[in-house]
Amino acid sequence: MDTVKIKELISQAFEAQKYAYVPYSNFCVGAALLAKNGTIYRGCNIENASYTPTNCAERTAFFKAVSEGIREFEAIAIVGNKKGVEKGAGEICPPCGVCRQVMGEFCDPKTFQVILAAGEEQYRIFKLEELLPLGFGPEELL
Ligand code: THU
Repeated sequence: MDTVKIKELISQAFEAQKYAYVPYSNFCVGAALLAKNGTIYRGCNIENASYTPTNCAERTAFFKAVSEGIREFEAIAIVGNKKGVEKGAGEICPPCGVCRQVMGEFCDPKTFQVILAAGEEQYRIFKLEELLPLGFGPEELL
């Protein structure tokens, strides 16, 4: 993916992060998921007073897309930090195991790119297979 597209995805993840509903952790996460058809689905984390219903930003983005009939994806950009941290001043935010598993359901581990960003200029890119080695996927059930 070219640098312009990477920066665009990161910027959209930061936009999504603004809507994070995080009264319990104060940890704001944003994700921007690029579908193969070019559409970008944004997501934020949504917490709950009962804690376990909390939904991560990545899964919000995936479920928005899948619930609209989109199941083919190219990349996701993820940003996450405690409330109040300036863009570019934080650390990268690795996706949790549950979100990696959801990525594994819909994405090719060899090609799907996971962009972990602290700013538009500070990011690392991983293939899903690096983040979810030997994952249990749909093909196991064939
Ligand atoms: N969180 C995400 O949104 N994505 C992840 O991959 C890791 C964790 C959220 C869940 C919760 O709202 C907050 O970060 C602290 O765990």
